[in-house]
Amino acid sequence: MKKKSSATKQINLRPHSSSLLDGPHRAAARSMLYPVGFTEADFKKPLIGIASTWSNVTPCNMHIDKLALEAEKGANAGGGKAIVFNTITVSDGISNGNEAMKYSLVSREVIADSIETVVGCGGMDGYVAIGGCDKNMPGAMICIARMNRPAVFVYGGTILPGCLTAASAPKDSPNVGKDLDVVSVFEAIGQHAAGKISDAELHAVESCAIPGPGSCGGMYTANTMASAIEALGMSLPNSSAQNAISPAKMDDCRRAGAAVVEMLRQGLKPLDILTKKAFENAITVVIALGGSTNAVLHLLGIAHAAKVKLTIDDFTRIGKRVPVLADLKPSGKYSMSALVAIGGIRPLMKTLLDTGLLHGDCLTVTGQTMAETLADVKSYPNGQQIIRPLDNPIKKDSHLVIFYGNLAPTGAVGKITGKEGTSFTGKAIVFEGEEKALKAILDGTVKKGHVIVIRSEGPKGGPGMREMLAPTSAIMGKGLGKDVALITDGRFSGGSHGFVVGHVTPESYVGGPIALVKNGDKIIFDAVKRTLTLDVTAKELAKRKKAWKKPAPRYPRGVLAKYAAHVTSASEGAVTDKDLEL
Ligand code: FES
Repeated sequence: MKKKSSATKQINLRPHSSSLLDGPHRAAARSMLYPVGFTEADFKKPLIGIASTWSNVTPCNMHIDKLALEAEKGANAGGGKAIVFNTITVSDGISNGNEAMKYSLVSREVIADSIETVVGCGGMDGYVAIGGCDKNMPGAMICIARMNRPAVFVYGGTILPGCLTAASAPKDSPNVGKDLDVVSVFEAIGQHAAGKISDAELHAVESCAIPGPGSCGGMYTANTMASAIEALGMSLPNSSAQNAISPAKMDDCRRAGAAVVEMLRQGLKPLDILTKKAFENAITVVIALGGSTNAVLHLLGIAHAAKVKLTIDDFTRIGKRVPVLADLKPSGKYSMSALVAIGGIRPLMKTLLDTGLLHGDCLTVTGQTMAETLADVKSYPNGQQIIRPLDNPIKKDSHLVIFYGNLAPTGAVGKITGKEGTSFTGKAIVFEGEEKALKAILDGTVKKGHVIVIRSEGPKGGPGMREMLAPTSAIMGKGLGKDVALITDGRFSGGSHGFVVGHVTPESYVGGPIALVKNGDKIIFDAVKRTLTLDVTAKELAKRKKAWKKPAPRYPRGVLAKYAAHVTSASEGAVTDKDLEL
């Protein structure tokens, strides 16, 4: 590890555990730790937390207990004393399309708060945080940025694709031999509703799409955030492109444990790494990979915790010069495990560095700069089809498009790959909430030329800004991908594709213009000019606003009520501690 210039100073390796555990007056604290495996010698070592998101709630995290034990071994071998602890996780794959999903984005904050609580109360000098699902990854990173104690993030790894064999498939199944994943199941629901596939085919797809542990297997939110975190410099090189069940992932965990102890020795902290340039690197890599719109929300949230001034307009600025190069699901062809097989994201990052699109001087958790970690990376094998060369991109600029206009005065986020075109004009068909919209798509009420408006789904109004994966998958399944568009003050799963714009701000609950849209209004998207326009006069909108009444909160008590009371706009990352700042 390269020494930082400040590393010549005398560094206290136990800045937090010493006050908790040293001296006669702390005997009671030490006595609590002998039973969990501490020896006398351990009380002289840096205390390293291992934050595990293990859970059988979801396959994404079902193996993380084993990864945590490897990280524990690595931290102990590196000279620390590790303690493994758990935090919660939830599954978007299970809750999507249901009222339950309102807890999903909320869990990002709960996870950040819970890791902070254990690390803070446990006097931990540094920690490894292991995440494997959409919200526990940014949740861990928000905590890492907020606490600024030495820390390394570890990704749980991608799932392998599911495969339907001829022996277990209905006769003439269209899915035999295809790579399947959770989005295949959501889209099969739409195909089933359209009468294109049978009950038996739907059941065959559902029962083989998820073959074991690991995060959803396209460039959906988990793989997007893993790549973004590696580009931020907060995980070890190449750790974002590994299969969940692999020797490489186990090795990654051991090295992460040791790396945290080394960060302590070097005096290297997350805020040395999480600079504005590091966030620009993360945005660059997300765009090149064709990553999820959720990266906008989560990178804004992590930047807020790191006190880095990042705005949605930074995505537009960087997006003008960075092309989409990866042909990955959901809008592309290949799975994450196929990218792992050809070398992961490092050769792509090296290309971006060599062409000046990536900042090479940013520090990483290794203590090396980004350029140093990329120096020996080899190119992809000849003939691979997954990552395009810079002179033949899938799209010459970003697919993450920040829209403004009278329908989104403070911004909205679209995922425009160009496959569905770059503009759309249609008539609004308005739904208060996701379920009503999904029903209308499935029963044929939604027709060609409609712009589906799903509101009352924002961070405050939902609350929790649900993902519209079920409606967007149903649109695809019904074969309407090029004929309808969808806008929402909710958000999208990394698995969503089509002409879709989410994060419409201000949200309807606070009286944003999306609250004033009526059935039949003309809505115009222009992804080139990045405008989202409601073709209604300002006078008429003012009249509608006067008649608008703020809805009562849906949840008067509990975590959803607390969340709704504090959460900021999606254009600010939907964070919950901004209003607490003096
Ligand atoms: Fe966990 Fe997709 S539901 S990564």
